[in-house]
Amino acid sequence: MTAALLTPSPENIARAAEALRRGELVGMPTETVYGLAGNALDAAAVSRIFAAKERPTFDPLIVHVAPDAPGLAPLEQLGLVDGARLSEVVREQAEALIHAFWPGPLTLVLPRGPKVPDLVTSGLPRVAVRMPRHPVAQALIRAAGVPLAAPSANRFGRISPTSAADVVSELGDRIGLVLDGGTCQLGVESTVLLLDDEAPVLLRPGGAPREDVEKLLGRPVARASQSGDVAQLSPGLLASHYAPRKPLHLLAGPLGTGLESPTFSGELPASIGVLAQSGDAAELQARLERTSARRVRVEVLSARGELDESARRLFAALRALDASDAEVLFAEPCPSEAGLGYAIADRLRRASIR
Ligand code: TXA
Ligand code: MG
Repeated sequence: MTAALLTPSPENIARAAEALRRGELVGMPTETVYGLAGNALDAAAVSRIFAAKERPTFDPLIVHVAPDAPGLAPLEQLGLVDGARLSEVVREQAEALIHAFWPGPLTLVLPRGPKVPDLVTSGLPRVAVRMPRHPVAQALIRAAGVPLAAPSANRFGRISPTSAADVVSELGDRIGLVLDGGTCQLGVESTVLLLDDEAPVLLRPGGAPREDVEKLLGRPVARASQSGDVAQLSPGLLASHYAPRKPLHLLAGPLGTGLESPTFSGELPASIGVLAQSGDAAELQARLERTSARRVRVEVLSARGELDESARRLFAALRALDASDAEVLFAEPCPSEAGLGYAIADRLRRASIR
């Protein structure tokens, strides 16, 4: 099987929706990254998602809903969320967040309703739900008439796809259809926030900045501790690592200080790859080739260091370095952890050797 790349015309969206109703999988553009979508209410379709991605079944999936009616009520009516297990406080928080951030890159983890197959939540007592902003995702969910489970459309542990061509290169031999919705506008995955009576917990930084969530809730949001909370609340997050095939070393500081990395020692190979946060690629390449006496391939995330552009380019730049003849990769750390910088820094840490 080789996936057909389809323009998102009404006919092709209808064709993809048909395939979803038959239990097949579709590559779906969203504003964050491309997803591998299947009918969230059909356990057989969901198991195909895990198989295509080679994803361990302890790593649960996000359920994507249509933008028709915002708020918690439709999620309860669909049997996705169990309203009876929502305290007054959590209900208010969820309604406020949905109102402010949906459709958009915020995933909420809430008490799971009766219609959600075990496999979707990996047996956990909560379900992750989000309402994507991308018009093609919205049209597809509407046309399918069912919520769609969709992890990022990469093989497990690999770099998330931000274009339809990336989906084909990751999964083209395993799925029938990919809808081409262009390059993803945000480029990093959604923020995943668990709401519960204790305090909201940030399971994954992402497209919705933590500061904005905190401002809306009027309280700080704790980051799940990798050692304790994550293992219990979202076990799959321990393993995900967005990894290129080649070893990636995070530099100790800004590029100006050379190629010092706490995780790299020994001789540099003949050809290396460098992910720079900002600057001019040709100039950086010339300087690094001079100082290292090696062939250097440089990818710059954003010439002027603008974080939204850096996020959008991050995964494509990692893919380009991975596909180059560089044998070892180095990445300049993200200079800011504010706004999208937090998600970028998180992805680079996970992509690198530790
Ligand atoms: O932006 C996104 O969120 C993209 C697009 C396609 O929507 N999707 C995505 O899915 O990044 P995925 O499967 O690659 O990452 C989802 C993460 C899981 O690794 C897991 O940690 C968390 O969301 N998650 C999902 N369901 C959960 C649950 N029931 N409880 C706790 N964490 C959950
Ligand atoms: Mg993923």
